[in-house]
Amino acid sequence: MASSCIITVTVFIATVIIAVNGCSPSDRTALLSFKAALKEPYHGIFNSWSGENCCVNWYGVSCDSTTGRVTDINLRGESEDPMFVKSGRSGYMTGNISPEICKIDRLTTLVVADWKAITGEIPQCVTSLSNLRILDVIGNKLTGKIPSNIGNLQRLTVLNLADNSFSGEIPSSIVDLASLKHLDLSNNALTGSVPANFGKLQMLSRALMNRNQLTGSIPVSISKIYRLADLDLSMNRLTGSVPSELGKMPVLSTLNLDSNLLSGQIPSSLLSNSGLGIVNLSHNGFSGTIPDVFCPKSYFMVLDMSFNNLNGRVPGSLSSSKYIGHLDLSHNHLCGPIPLGLGSTFDHLEASSFNNNDCLCGNPLKTC
Ligand SMILES: *[C@@H]1O[C@H](CO)[C@@H](O)[C@H](O)[C@H]1NC(C)=O
Repeated sequence: MASSCIITVTVFIATVIIAVNGCSPSDRTALLSFKAALKEPYHGIFNSWSGENCCVNWYGVSCDSTTGRVTDINLRGESEDPMFVKSGRSGYMTGNISPEICKIDRLTTLVVADWKAITGEIPQCVTSLSNLRILDVIGNKLTGKIPSNIGNLQRLTVLNLADNSFSGEIPSSIVDLASLKHLDLSNNALTGSVPANFGKLQMLSRALMNRNQLTGSIPVSISKIYRLADLDLSMNRLTGSVPSELGKMPVLSTLNLDSNLLSGQIPSSLLSNSGLGIVNLSHNGFSGTIPDVFCPKSYFMVLDMSFNNLNGRVPGSLSSSKYIGHLDLSHNHLCGPIPLGLGSTFDHLEASSFNNNDCLCGNPLKTC
């Protein structure tokens, strides 16, 4: 009895010590190295990073309350936090992300977002953080390559590297991120092509890779990602035609392929898919006619096919659509009468939607 009592007391005291002292000393040391490599001159967020217990009142740090291990580093420069509201300015930080963070091996969230001026690379060792679910470093000045073994992060659900200066190719291991839901690589300097087996990312619902220098064609395997709702590949150097399978995706609602070097015909499946509400195909080399496949279920917030080589007529079925918010067919080689009823059903459509074609006429242009 006496010994079990001692064990109980010991366990109790140990619990109290952890609760009081909180954070793991090695995690605290790593946090202080992380802090030392950064400079945040305006808000003083790191002033709170002092004292023994990194689990209490360290700005943006959270721990597992039973183990005292640091689980989250969540530092956002665009924040509603009173500290930011009061100062009236968004976050700014220079310096770089210390590889010492890789020692915090229970980390599930690493957000160092929108600080505008953090430079250097993402430490390659982040790929050893096997518990990582969120890696978000949007809005800095990070350079270098995406770690080649990024695919090791089997629990990663969010990978946001947007608005930086990452270069090199999208690593082929990216398709191994079996839990990935949100991928944002937009506005970097990435080259090479989208991996052919991109469709392995079965959990993906958003894939944003716009504003890079990607080449090659759109992998048909993307159409196998049945949860994908948002695909943005705009402002790259993609070539080839658009796989018609993209138009058969069950929940795809936004498809931005504008400002590439795409060619061939616009697949009719894209325009007959009533779930696709935002479609931008402008500034490419699409040719042939616009498929006449619109129907009373067609509902487009945006349908932009401007600046291509489309010829033939404006399809008559377009006027049977339920709704067309923003239509742009300008700067093509279309000819003939704009379908009767298009201008009356959608009386917000202006001449600018049809300008700079070969010989279009009728409302809202001049009568035929
Ligand atoms: C479609 O893309 C073009 C070129 O990238 C852009 O200028 C245009 O604003 C986009 N259209 C809409 C309606 O957003």
